[in-house]
Amino acid sequence: MMPLPIAYLNGDYLPLADARISPLDRGFLFADSVYEVLPVYRGRPFRVKEHFDRLARSLGEIRAPVPKSHAEWAEICVELTRRNGGGDLYLYVQVTRGAEFGRNHAWPDGLVPTVFAFATALEPPPAAWLERGVAAVTAADLRWARRDIKTTALLANVLLKKRSADVGAFETILLEHGHLTEGSSTTVHVIERGVILTPPNGHEILPGTTRDVVMLLASRLGIPTEAAPISEARLRAADEVWLAFSTRGVLPVTTLDGAAVGAGRPGPLFRRVHAAFDDYVREIAGTPPL
Ligand SMILES: Cc1ncc(COP(=O)(O)O)c(C=O)c1O
Repeated sequence: MMPLPIAYLNGDYLPLADARISPLDRGFLFADSVYEVLPVYRGRPFRVKEHFDRLARSLGEIRAPVPKSHAEWAEICVELTRRNGGGDLYLYVQVTRGAEFGRNHAWPDGLVPTVFAFATALEPPPAAWLERGVAAVTAADLRWARRDIKTTALLANVLLKKRSADVGAFETILLEHGHLTEGSSTTVHVIERGVILTPPNGHEILPGTTRDVVMLLASRLGIPTEAAPISEARLRAADEVWLAFSTRGVLPVTTLDGAAVGAGRPGPLFRRVHAAFDDYVREIAGTPPL
């Protein structure tokens, strides 16, 4: 995926190729840093309030100040989109605790946060993903105990994702104490007898913004949803399994550890929710992002 040319760094729009930060930035030294990824559909940043609510929450949890208001974040998203030609893309926004002259685990007061953002073109998903679904593998969730904080300390996620890539699968679905948590970079929905199930939000998983869109669309369609712990056995016996995440919306998983999920093809509820997602994006096109 190719980044687009214009980035934002600490108040300036500049060529991404010219963006520079200090090697003493705590984001670089400690991954002392949080981030958001949000899609832009038809030039309109999607779920701005929800993404920047979550960013503010992540910053609060790491005891860092929130450097911008929602209106200022929205303005950066709109401007970065405009300067990169609009259309469908996604934005990456990162806030680090900032740089200091030294390397101290316990940070000093008064640091100036580093704010960085760039855009990437959002190519339409390969037709095969929607027609045939994607493959996933499972692995033990070996991440830390505060996965609700969207931190750039992603080494465990990176290593877990690579396991699926190594075997030609799309995602690694994570299990802990015999239960589903989430994917290495996705929320997982399990469909059982017509009900959309997802593990409840808590410290164990990231509160996904796409998950909330799925819940909204399901309620519009009259499909029941439930936040409930999901055992490994229920995951493996599911009628459908979906991945939800900002850059792709909803995707059907049709193979799990080499075995077919349900009928082994994208299911009827997936088709309905996926179509409703597209309709929703069309419905809000051109409305104010915030
Ligand atoms: C670990 C993890 N869980 C879930 C998600 C899905 O969150 P969202 O729908 O807000 O993109 C992501 C997104 O990157 C993620 O990294």
